[in-house]
Amino acid sequence: MPQTPTRDAAETRTSTGSNGSDYLIRHTTLRQLQLLEAIVRLGSFTRAAEELFLTQPTVSMQIKKLSEAIGSPLFRQVGRAIEPTDAGREVHAACRDILSTLSNLEIKLADLKGLKRGRLRLGVLTTAKYVAPEILGAFCQVYPGIDVSLKVTNRENILERLMGHDDDLYVMGQPREINDQIQTIPFAPNPLVMVASVEHPLAGRCAIPLSALADENFILREPGSGIRDAVLAQFAAGGLVPRVRMQLGSNEAIKRAIVGGLGIAVLSLHSLTLESGGGRLALLDVEGFPIMRRWHLVYSRARELSLIARTFLDFAIDYEPEIRARLAEAEENFASLRDRLVAQSP
Ligand code: PGA
Repeated sequence: MPQTPTRDAAETRTSTGSNGSDYLIRHTTLRQLQLLEAIVRLGSFTRAAEELFLTQPTVSMQIKKLSEAIGSPLFRQVGRAIEPTDAGREVHAACRDILSTLSNLEIKLADLKGLKRGRLRLGVLTTAKYVAPEILGAFCQVYPGIDVSLKVTNRENILERLMGHDDDLYVMGQPREINDQIQTIPFAPNPLVMVASVEHPLAGRCAIPLSALADENFILREPGSGIRDAVLAQFAAGGLVPRVRMQLGSNEAIKRAIVGGLGIAVLSLHSLTLESGGGRLALLDVEGFPIMRRWHLVYSRARELSLIARTFLDFAIDYEPEIRARLAEAEENFASLRDRLVAQSP
């Protein structure tokens, strides 16, 4: 609902004298700034109203008042969507700084009272969804006053979120688009393994050359996935192209498809720790696999890391040995499964 400021308001604004910020202090509220931040982030008045537990008319009214105080419309309608005007963008940039300073102040004050309250926004790769909830669970036991939001998506979307400062902290691969605005801290290993059904004839073979997979049906992740890029690059390095039978946007769906005999695929070992104890999946001993990758804890230096995010970062680093131990156990289980399959194979 884009709002046009009234003429009176614009006139009042220009006639209030020398100090513009003084004018804004008297005519805007922090709640209005919080609303504007949420509308720009969520791209919708309705969703902002839901997030902040307000009615839509209240949101529209407050944005109208803010728009009048600023002296310009803050949003415009583009088709069915809304987008911020240039003035809206400027106000939004200022809002983020103000709200992040306040949120840090809240945490520091809470700390002084021996409490920790606030919000942690985490964005993680689909491969990290197998460990992030567990780390968050342990973290929230120590800091029960903290609200957590977890966004799970593929590499391309995580990069977009990082550039848009949508979350406090990310678990992702090394951003290639690295610059001095981005801080990366190496985190747990993320081995990418070749997975087949235990019934697959190659499951009982050792040292399989990559070229032997050229005729296999492949299940590949969707465009934008880091695993997909890694698999295609690995094949390309051997002068090969996998025969793609199907593309799926979910690691879990891929596991089902493998069990259903639709083909083989590359997955993160993290997504297989539960199956490693004896399921219907086996790891293939293929030349060039596992592809040894590593996650990183990543954040943008453009915004000060909140105290909560910093505390979580340290907590996650301390938690890393548990993640490594789980991977090692999965590796061992899959290795003994392979030994059994090799012994049984003709
Ligand atoms: P993704 O994960 O395939 O979901 O982008 C990539 C990775 O784990 O490196």
